[in-house]
Amino acid sequence: MTSLTAPNSLGIKSLLGAELLDRGQIDKIIKTAFAFKAASENASPDTVFKNSPLKGKTVALVFFEDSTRTRISFEVAAKRLGANTLIFSPSNSSTKKGETLFDTARTLEAMKPDVIVLRHPSAGTPYHFDQILKVPVVNAGDGFHEHPTQALLDLMTIQEFKGKVEGRNVLIIGDIAHSRVARSNIYALQTMGAKVRVCGPPTLLPPKVENLGVEVFWNLEEAVKGQDVVMLLRIQFERFAGAQAPSKSEYARFFGLNARTIGLCEKDALIMHPGPMNRGLELSTEVADGPQSVILSQVANGVMLRMAVLHLLVGGEVLGGKRG
Ligand code: CP
Repeated sequence: MTSLTAPNSLGIKSLLGAELLDRGQIDKIIKTAFAFKAASENASPDTVFKNSPLKGKTVALVFFEDSTRTRISFEVAAKRLGANTLIFSPSNSSTKKGETLFDTARTLEAMKPDVIVLRHPSAGTPYHFDQILKVPVVNAGDGFHEHPTQALLDLMTIQEFKGKVEGRNVLIIGDIAHSRVARSNIYALQTMGAKVRVCGPPTLLPPKVENLGVEVFWNLEEAVKGQDVVMLLRIQFERFAGAQAPSKSEYARFFGLNARTIGLCEKDALIMHPGPMNRGLELSTEVADGPQSVILSQVANGVMLRMAVLHLLVGGEVLGGKRG
């Protein structure tokens, strides 16, 4: 399951999972993302960064699952680096006629994209594409396995608002069992020296979750104490397969952040959510839109982070100044 070493500064062909990234690679990606952010702040929104090796290349966006943030931010990122995009949508593709994943992958590669960004409901599909194709693959979410670019943009956002990730206390609340965002964040946060707690109903925590090196809490009031960051997760009803779960009202009462429970958190704790949010369930509107929320900063940083990933994978140089 390892990628071929490629002549880029990350030393990897594909970005498949946060578990596979070391501290140096994460530093390079986030530093480059901050450099694109700084350059964007002094530029109009439609500025194309012409010096990237992505200019004139093609990024294939292959999403077998719905997405707003990830798909659009990769599209914006590719275009801002001067690339073209090739959009694959399963609902009007030949997968509906029975074409296999293997043949779909090989067919897409024959159209000569320079990078494939792939989201798929089955864990491991980006690894499969990486094994059978020569083109770099970016995992944009595979089942409930990993979502590495989400974790990286989350780390970038923590660094932006808290100065650094190392030594920070990060609490992840909710449906850890079905969350690729949680898994990627646990790996990346720990690699960068953060301490991670998880909290949720026992039925939504994976078995032996403590083996991932996290502290486990079932009680929100206890869990939020001393936390610099509180990361909420969407309850993924579409991934429940007869699983026992609390009712929505029970969940909101015991694990939701609202006008009362936000008061249990540290006053300067960042409130994060990868989106899409279930308002009234994981968090109330006053928390989602409140002064501690950095949810829209996460979205904005997603474009910069994905620019950095695309730029570095195709051989762009590591950019950046003070941060990272
Ligand atoms: N956070 C995230 O992956 O959102 P989308 O499903 O909208 O891409």
